[in-house]
Amino acid sequence: MKPPHILLVISGGIAAYKSLELIRRLRTMGYDVTPVMTKAAEEFVTPLSVSALAGRKVYQDLFDLTSEAEMGHIELSRSADLLVVAPASADLMAKMATGLANDLASTLLLATDTPVMIAPAMNVRMWTHPATQRNIKALKNDGIEFIGPAHGDMACGEHGPGRMTEPEEIASAIEQKLTALGAEKMLAGRHILVTSGPTHEPIDPVRYIANRSSGAQGSAIANALIAQGAEVTFITGPAEAPAPIGARIVEIQSAQEMHDAVHAALPVDAAIFAAAVADWRVKDAASEKIKKQAGESPSLTFTENPDILASVSALDEQRPPLVIGFAAETENVIENATAKRLRKGCDWIIANDVSPDTGIMGGHKNTVTVITDDGAVSWEKMSKKAVAARLAQDIAQHLQGCDDRD
Ligand code: CTP
Repeated sequence: MKPPHILLVISGGIAAYKSLELIRRLRTMGYDVTPVMTKAAEEFVTPLSVSALAGRKVYQDLFDLTSEAEMGHIELSRSADLLVVAPASADLMAKMATGLANDLASTLLLATDTPVMIAPAMNVRMWTHPATQRNIKALKNDGIEFIGPAHGDMACGEHGPGRMTEPEEIASAIEQKLTALGAEKMLAGRHILVTSGPTHEPIDPVRYIANRSSGAQGSAIANALIAQGAEVTFITGPAEAPAPIGARIVEIQSAQEMHDAVHAALPVDAAIFAAAVADWRVKDAASEKIKKQAGESPSLTFTENPDILASVSALDEQRPPLVIGFAAETENVIENATAKRLRKGCDWIIANDVSPDTGIMGGHKNTVTVITDDGAVSWEKMSKKAVAARLAQDIAQHLQGCDDRD
């Protein structure tokens, strides 16, 4: 079997000297490393040392005809199993975030469909600058994975975030990523539906009723399912969290629209209802903006929205083999969620305490209890990403069990 192949982009920064150690480690771990250097990187380390450690030619110029003849830049980036940028300078990150391609490194990064990990390194103020923060957000949104940066003393004498993560840690993050990429995809061939985000229920053309759901848990679940090879239909209200990459995305506004989109997406192998659906909508929403009348406050009449989860659980032929609901509770979490599972007819319910002091709604962490026919199991507090990964595994196992019984 061919060893994993890493394309390592070294950009300009004092941390570039650490990329020599990174190459040495990666080679010891048995990986092939093809180095690419930006012009600025050459001011910090010599191409000769980089190529000596990598045991390969260093690619430097976009218009290097010899290397273009050997291997086009698109081929160069696609032949790798993973692209790693270490150190990633503020400049290269800005180029990546805006899609600039004016040198070999930025062109490779734009031309690739291979996963990309970056280890940023820059001065604290450059890291905290709103422009860099905007770029970070955009890059994360594009699915770029960040390794660090670490906090600490900088070569420039300042202290804070911006130090490049140590080569040992970068190497272990790369190892983990390559293992995950190479691992057997447990959900290959499965089609899974995920609802996510809040719904917006119109009052009139400019006003609506919403809730605080960020869509973070739904996006994390969809990403975890996709990472395991599932085909995901992601039906989402107007959410703050970035949409999952690689899903079929259906954007809706209201609960009624979400209901219709969900039923149109069936049949599926599993359906996960992570959306915070409004229970009511305004009866007869106004078609024109409601005008202020002196001394009068308008009154709104509500009507119940369809319960999407219950409607799918109650299906006969089209009922997915696994239907999973969420129970957002603020008190008696397990008791209420257990009753909710039976009332809504779903197979599993994932209960969480969303009281404001837990910080779950809109936060990054989650504490969940999974309730099934077999009872309730509480998971330790973990990131929404970790909850998603564990859930994806449990779903894969359950569906495998269903196949084995057939
Ligand atoms: N749900 C749904 N359609 C609705 C309301 C809720 O599909 N109209 C789904 C949610 O996506 C979630 C589950 O039902 O998976 C439970 O949502 P939750 O808001 O906790 O429950 P409610 O139905 O609002 O019940 P209660 O008001 O008793 O908390």
